[in-house]
Amino acid sequence: MSVELNHTIIHAQDNRESAEFLAHILGLEIRTEWGPFIPVATSNGVTRDFAAIPAESIIMQHHAFLISDEEFDAVFARIQQAAITYYADPHMKQPGEINHHHGGRGLYFMDPAGHGMEIITRPYGSHVQQPTAS
Ligand SMILES: [Fe+2]
Repeated sequence: MSVELNHTIIHAQDNRESAEFLAHILGLEIRTEWGPFIPVATSNGVTRDFAAIPAESIIMQHHAFLISDEEFDAVFARIQQAAITYYADPHMKQPGEINHHHGGRGLYFMDPAGHGMEIITRPYGSHVQQPTAS
């Protein structure tokens, strides 16, 4: 069986603004607009398809992006250059800090539509040593 995530839809008040925001911060390209969607693709080919809907209908989503240490430095620099508030925690109680969970680095920030974005350099749980079979 081969099942891969292909795309998800992200609601935004201004889908162009939100797509350009995410593409800029993460260093990604915007693909050709298709119908009501503006796709932003990650390196594994999954697209986040931004669709414009009224603000009152937007339900906050959480999206986490796994990036390398070098990419983290570049993304973090763009976040700081853009004066975007970032947090070490998802509850936004530690502004201006990053975390070092899972043996890597991570932080959270909001996109223009109010979705919670996260960047991490190690997947959740990746620091846990698996017991070896004996
Ligand atoms: Fe997360």
